[in-house]
Parts: sequence; structure tokens; C-alpha cells
Amino acid sequence: MKILVTGGCGFIGSHLCLHLLAERHNVICLDRCINRMMPQAQAILNHPQCKVIQHDVKDPIDIDADLIYHLACPASPSDYQRDPVDTFETVVLGTLNMLKLARKRKIALLQASTSEIYGTPEEHPQTEAYWGNVNPIGVRSCYNESKRAAESLCMDFHRKYQVDARIIRIFNTYGPYMRHDDGRVVTNFIRSTLLNEELVIYGEGSQTRSFQYIDDLIRGMTSLMALKDPYPFPVNLGNPAETTILNLAKIIIALTQSKSQLKFTAPSEDDPNRRKPDISRAKKLLGWEPQVQLEEGLKKTIFYYHCLLNGEDSHASILSHHSHS
Ligand SMILES: NC(=O)c1ccc[n+]([C@@H]2O[C@H](COP(=O)([O-])OP(=O)(O)OC[C@H]3O[C@@H](n4cnc5c(N)ncnc54)[C@H](O)[C@@H]3O)[C@@H](O)[C@H]2O)c1
Repeated sequence: MKILVTGGCGFIGSHLCLHLLAERHNVICLDRCINRMMPQAQAILNHPQCKVIQHDVKDPIDIDADLIYHLACPASPSDYQRDPVDTFETVVLGTLNMLKLARKRKIALLQASTSEIYGTPEEHPQTEAYWGNVNPIGVRSCYNESKRAAESLCMDFHRKYQVDARIIRIFNTYGPYMRHDDGRVVTNFIRSTLLNEELVIYGEGSQTRSFQYIDDLIRGMTSLMALKDPYPFPVNLGNPAETTILNLAKIIIALTQSKSQLKFTAPSEDDPNRRKPDISRAKKLLGWEPQVQLEEGLKKTIFYYHCLLNGEDSHASILSHHSHS
């Protein structure tokens, strides 16, 4: 198949492109920032089965493809808050443009939505039936409200034009190829511990998150797209194992044998206290559940950043991992 991956140079996009190339698909990797791709993932750019297109999804485009994975969007809070208007436009106009392409070409589309659409949840764990509790005017709303609007667009394109749009709600995902400076908690902590710098914890660190390793997500999203029939309802993809941010910091300090100290600072605005997916739907529909435990995934991620910071090559091990998975 010819598979279009928007945001293909980002964290999840890189892994997805590598996975699809290993499965012998032709990949069209579309991104507005090709140069920001992480070392080692850049193998995608020169792969003979991969065509790279530099394009902003806010602008319409026509591409000959058989399937779309629509991921393009600034995803870390520091990225999406830098230019909130651009973020909102990217999500809403970008999704609209990709849905129009899917309609024109009569092809299926996967929409990368997020657990952020649940906001500060009042139900635990969150099932897909929960409508969420979102601050519509907060500093995070450019991201979570636009992602909610994008889900709405997907459903309307399905109801009105029978577009086969499939929505995944991704919960915190981590692994190699995240930009080490993108401000997300796992990369922040790993970077700080490897450099023996202070680990900054917002609030008391008692807020919980559930962290999913990238391989589990890729398996979930490709399984959903492999379903023969359309599935126009959101599917949570995340790891239900909950951990506090403080505990995460302690695990990473122990795994890296770091001398880093903890530094507690004011909580960040609209930071939810708890997030935990109910994955019953994915289990039933796809026979999917996460397989990589937190410590195992953290070890792999730490190894990548250790190599990166020390100028060593983790490339061979990561590429061979993809060709076997
Ligand atoms: N990583 C997570 O934990 C997580 C959680 C929930 C949802 N998601 C969603 O998954 C998708 C991918 O996330 P990621 O972690 O790989 O993020 P990322 O920031 O690593 O990658 C996003 C990519 O999209 C590109 N992009 C941004 N705006 C664009 C535009 N207007 N036109 C073209 N390209 C554009 C960026 O250049 C980047 O390469 C996003 O839609 C995000 O909302 C991720």
C-alpha cells in the first residue's frame, strides 16, 4: 500500500514510518519540519520506499495514497503553547484537509486524538463514553479543544460522506526519538538524570499518569487500521498501569544511577491530577493490550538518550528492533 503519514518526522510518526517500511509498504512521510527529525530516525528520509514531502497540513494537498495516518500537530505542551493559534489551525484545518483528501480518494484515515480531550476527568478510569471536563479558555485549550473539534469533524465526515475515519485517543506515550528538549516529563527526567541535573517536579508529584511504550501504541494503531470494516468510534490506546510523577522520577534516578536531586515547583496550569485509560474497547475490538512494562520501556529509552548524549550509535539496535517487530 501507499501510506501517507502526516507528522511523519515527529516521535510517533518516525516509529510508524519505520514500522510500515519494515512491513514493505510505500510510505509518504509528510511534515512541515523535516530538519527537526531525531538522529537515527533520519534513516527514513533516504529509504528507497519512502517519499518525503515538506508541507504544512493547514494548506490543502492532493496525494495519491491508499491510507492516511494523520498525526501532524505540535504535541508537547511547550510546543503547542508556543503559538496556540497555529496549533488550533493545524489541528482543525489540518484534519479538515486530510478528511477531504480521504473523501476524494475514498480511503481510510486514522485520526491521532488524545487523552487530553478528557481534560481534568471526573471519572476514573476514562472510558470512551466519558465526555470529558475541559477548560475551554485555558492555556491548554488550543490543543484539547481543537482535538475535540477534530473528532467532531471525523464523525461528521463519516455520517455525511461515509468517510472511513477511525479515531484513537492516545494516552502519554514515550520512547526513543522523542525530542530530548520537547518538555515532556519522561524526556525531561531522563535528560536531567543523565546530566546529573535537578529533576523539576510540578506540584508535589502526587499527580498520576499512565505511560505507554511506543511499540505498544504502534501495534494498537496499525491493528485498528487493519480492521476490514470501518469503525467510526474513538478507541483509547494507553497503558492503564498508573504511577505518580514522583515515583516516575525515583525509578528513572535508580535506572540511571544518577546523582540528581528533586526540585519541587508550582503546579502547572490545568495539569490534571489523574489520567488512566479504560482499554476494554481496544481489548475486545483488537485483542490489544500493552505488553511493555514501565521499567522495561524506560530502560530502552534511557539507552537511546545515553547513546545520543555520548555520541554513540544506537542506530543498529533500533533498526533491527523495527525489522523484527
Ligand atoms: N506522544 C504522546 O504521548 C501523544 C499523546 C496524545 C496524542 N498524541 C498525538 O499524536 C500525534 C503525534 O505526536 P508526537 O508525540 O509524535 O508529536 P511530535 O511533536 O513529536 O511530532 C509531531 C510532528 O508534526 C509536525 N507538524 C506539526 N504541525 C504541523 C503542520 N501544521 N503541518 C505539518 N506537520 C506538522 C511536526 O513538525 C512534528 O514532526 C499528535 O497528533 C499528537 O497530538 C501524542
